[in-house]
Amino acid sequence: MDLSGKIAVVTGSSSGIGLELSSALLEAGAEVFGLSRRKSELGHARFHWLPTDVTRDEDVDRAFAAVLGRHGHIDLLVNNAGFGLFREVEQIDPAEWRRLIDTNLTAMFLCTRKVVPSMKAVRSGTIVNLGSVAGKRGLKGGTAYCASKFAVNGFSESLMEELREFGIRVLCVNPGSVNTEFFNHAGVQPKKFMQSDDVARLIVSLVQLPDGMLPDQVTVRPL
Ligand SMILES: NC(=O)c1ccc[n+]([C@@H]2O[C@H](COP(=O)([O-])OP(=O)(O)OC[C@H]3O[C@@H](n4cnc5c(N)ncnc54)[C@H](OP(=O)(O)O)[C@@H]3O)[C@@H](O)[C@H]2O)c1
Repeated sequence: MDLSGKIAVVTGSSSGIGLELSSALLEAGAEVFGLSRRKSELGHARFHWLPTDVTRDEDVDRAFAAVLGRHGHIDLLVNNAGFGLFREVEQIDPAEWRRLIDTNLTAMFLCTRKVVPSMKAVRSGTIVNLGSVAGKRGLKGGTAYCASKFAVNGFSESLMEELREFGIRVLCVNPGSVNTEFFNHAGVQPKKFMQSDDVARLIVSLVQLPDGMLPDQVTVRPL
């Protein structure tokens, strides 16, 4: 997809991968709508912050109504908002479990269902979901986080099969550790990191592949 003039929505645009990705999409010429609770500090004429808690149906409805009301369609959705939680299972509060599943998984469903009708109407579009290597193998302390990211992989693969015949691409990106605010509160510290701008560049280059190509899953780890 040539991103010039395209309409992109990025959830979790206020920090880390989402912030760098929004910036990279702007550089590639897209009009970018960022959804997050904290303000996304991008200061660019083609960037629009829509204050949104992606776990709240009414916030998601309002944000997508604003974009679709203005442009009529969305070319790219990046479901990136999420957080980590690594803790022994008996130490996880049920409310925290639900907040994590709501944020990492259910929000992805809420946002996706908003873009699919207009993508189907024009028989094109790309949806990128942020999974994790923790969505490919279980990890100690990762019952909640791994469960959410395994589910993201299952959601993405099913969505890819469902939307492929409509000319819509669905890609699940599964990164290893990336140096972001994620680790300020995840309860774990990795030994090696990738940089968030490098992961953003990878995602943009996958989105920019020719329309006839469907990369469906990409795993990337620190070397
Ligand atoms: N860092 C890693 O090592 C790593 C590895 C694999 C996958 N990932 C995944 O990559 C994604 C981005 O993580 P990151 O590393 O960039 O972390 P980050 O720097 O902590 O950024 C997380 C983003 O998600 C947003 N967010 C969280 N809850 C939200 C909510 N309820 N409503 C709206 N936005 C919300 C935050 O915005 P507000 O707080 O402003 O709402 C923030 O912009 C996540 O899905 C994460 O699971 C990260």
